[in-house]
Amino acid sequence: MTEGQLSQSEKVALRERVKELTCLYGIAQVARQPDKPLQNILQSIVELLPPAWQYPKVASARLNLDGVCYTAGDFSACCQKQSAEIFVNDAPKGLVEIGYTENEPQLDEGPFLKEERSLLNEIARQIALIVEHRQAEEDKIKLYGQLRHADRLATVGMLAAGVAHELNEPVGNILGFAQLAKKAEKIPASVKKDIDKIEAASLDARDIIQKLLVFARQVPPEKKSVNLNDIVKNGLYFLEARCAKEGTELVCVLSPNLPEVIADPVQLNQVLVNLVVNALQSMGQKAGKIMVQTKSNEQEVCLVVEDTGCGMSKEVLDEIFTPFFTTKDIGCGTGLGLPVVHGIVTGHNGVINVESKVGQGTRFEIHLPLKKPPKIKDAN
Ligand SMILES: Nc1ncnc2c1ncn2[C@@H]1O[C@H](COP(=O)(O)OP(=O)(O)OP(=O)(O)O)[C@@H](O)[C@H]1O
Ligand SMILES: [Mg+2]
Repeated sequence: MTEGQLSQSEKVALRERVKELTCLYGIAQVARQPDKPLQNILQSIVELLPPAWQYPKVASARLNLDGVCYTAGDFSACCQKQSAEIFVNDAPKGLVEIGYTENEPQLDEGPFLKEERSLLNEIARQIALIVEHRQAEEDKIKLYGQLRHADRLATVGMLAAGVAHELNEPVGNILGFAQLAKKAEKIPASVKKDIDKIEAASLDARDIIQKLLVFARQVPPEKKSVNLNDIVKNGLYFLEARCAKEGTELVCVLSPNLPEVIADPVQLNQVLVNLVVNALQSMGQKAGKIMVQTKSNEQEVCLVVEDTGCGMSKEVLDEIFTPFFTTKDIGCGTGLGLPVVHGIVTGHNGVINVESKVGQGTRFEIHLPLKKPPKIKDAN
């Protein structure tokens, strides 16, 4: 049958179906552009909607997604509207709407056809699929980045451990012979001063080697049953005076009935000190607040160190666990504090979460599992 043989109403209906299909085809085309930012894709989709409705000349469209609004035409002037909710991963995320700026005769749903209702629902579904697909892609890229970062840290760790091992002995020898030389009789005072410098420098070097070994998890933790609250109380005792001197308020919120955890108390103290010292240093000259908190649930205990300091940019955040990465002046930081924290926490099968906002502050969360996951028994 040709178009000429169709009745007037059939022709109108056919034209409407062609418009709807053109719209859906357009959406599919737009969605197939992986390099296009999601915002641009959504704007293009909104612009495809008015021509698909029965009165395109007076039709406008609006899409609201996650609080961002995209429009085609003057939607605020619309008097007759139709809308469909968008569910992304089953959660309501927004609304897609069509409206006419002039009153049109009543049809199936106000001035709209029932086919237009189906089309709008389908468009809402397509938009949700596009957003879900984008999110999955972004999650994949993020996970890949995290894996690459973990891989890089492991490589750096192996390298650091190798270098640290090689240096341990010669540095030990330098220190030992310097201390021996100092004991020799009748050495002039100036030479003794030089030997003191050699001794101090080799002690510094030994300290760095020790930190590298902890980062590379070459220093096995000496674990026993410990209460994180005791570690925090003892550790903060020494840090309180330093905070007060620098005008920083130190607030401590300890959870009562915190379960004990199997851990190395010396290493956990090191984690606390490194985090609190960083928090203190992030204040610069301004007065601020540091909050140290302990929490627990059935699976883990958690140490939180939160500050109102300078915060970190994404670039800094990406590097904080890399040995020797520091933003501090030469001589003020070795860039080993957080790598040591990383080494200790992973040595306890724990996890570190960091959130930071430039100019607002930083929050470190250390999660330590209460028990090792149960071993899977053999079937026989
Ligand atoms: N609480 C924080 N607020 C803002 N920046 C931080 C914070 N903690 C760490 N950083 C950033 O991370 C970098 C690395 O920290 P890390 O503790 O590893 O080394 P460092 O403090 O520079 O030197 P070190 O701890 O060896 O004295 C710091 O130089 C700083 O830029
Ligand atoms: Mg530090």
